[in-house]
Amino acid sequence: MSKIAVLGSGQVGQVLADGFLKHGHEVMRASREPAKLEKWKAGAGAKAHTGTFAEAAKWGDSVVLAVKGTAAEAAIELAGVQNLAGKTVMDATNPIADGGPQNGVLRYFTDINESLMERLQKKAPDARFVKVFSCVGSALMINPKIPGGPPTMFIAGNDKGAKAEVQKILDQLGWETADMGTVEAAHAIEPLCILWCIPGFLQNDWMHAFKMLKVG
Ligand SMILES: NC(=O)c1ccc[n+]([C@@H]2O[C@H](COP(=O)([O-])OP(=O)(O)OC[C@H]3O[C@@H](n4cnc5c(N)ncnc54)[C@H](OP(=O)(O)O)[C@@H]3O)[C@@H](O)[C@H]2O)c1
Repeated sequence: MSKIAVLGSGQVGQVLADGFLKHGHEVMRASREPAKLEKWKAGAGAKAHTGTFAEAAKWGDSVVLAVKGTAAEAAIELAGVQNLAGKTVMDATNPIADGGPQNGVLRYFTDINESLMERLQKKAPDARFVKVFSCVGSALMINPKIPGGPPTMFIAGNDKGAKAEVQKILDQLGWETADMGTVEAAHAIEPLCILWCIPGFLQNDWMHAFKMLKVG
């Protein structure tokens, strides 16, 4: 069991923090204003802690980045590049542009030949980034029960050891893992969120996940 820092006071931060606690990990959840997480901490048990982005990044054996996409680079700066060095950073962010969807289709502030995770990896070159949790809604992140499942979590990152750590966590959380390769594969994984959200915006259907089907 490990110490996981969860940078994010939103829905994804809460769901992942609760999921990690359920599986026996110790969690520090972080915000620019940690006081707003006190209520969560009070109900989350003895292994739940709160702190600033920098305190959590320093404390964790590994780190989850679950902040607004437009703020991800700022959050890495607040966490402290030196505090992330050598650590696995599970990057759940998507580069969603402000302004909302058009006919159900979100707009990104990155283009198809780059990704947010590459920007983050450049900003913190010694952190071991792994794209994960970005291609499914928070309601299904922890031990999803879906007919035809388990669903597939697409991951990518440069460090094989970091991806092995993430795969172990995904095994606990009830996911099948598909490793798509190095950081550049985030070009392909991040836009899956756009596709995943379309049934939500058009039909209010948010309860689905991707699965990779294979012959043999
Ligand atoms: N919602 C989902 O189901 C889902 C699924 C997959 C992936 N994602 C991705 O996961 C990420 C988190 O989503 P979410 O819905 O949980 O929350 P969110 O509302 O997108 O983000 C909330 C977090 O962003 C931080 N933040 C906002 N502005 C900031 C700034 N200027 N500087 C530093 N930090 C800032 C907030 O920090 P403070 O605590 O300090 O306010 C808070 O921790 C997003 O990138 C989203 O695309 C979401």
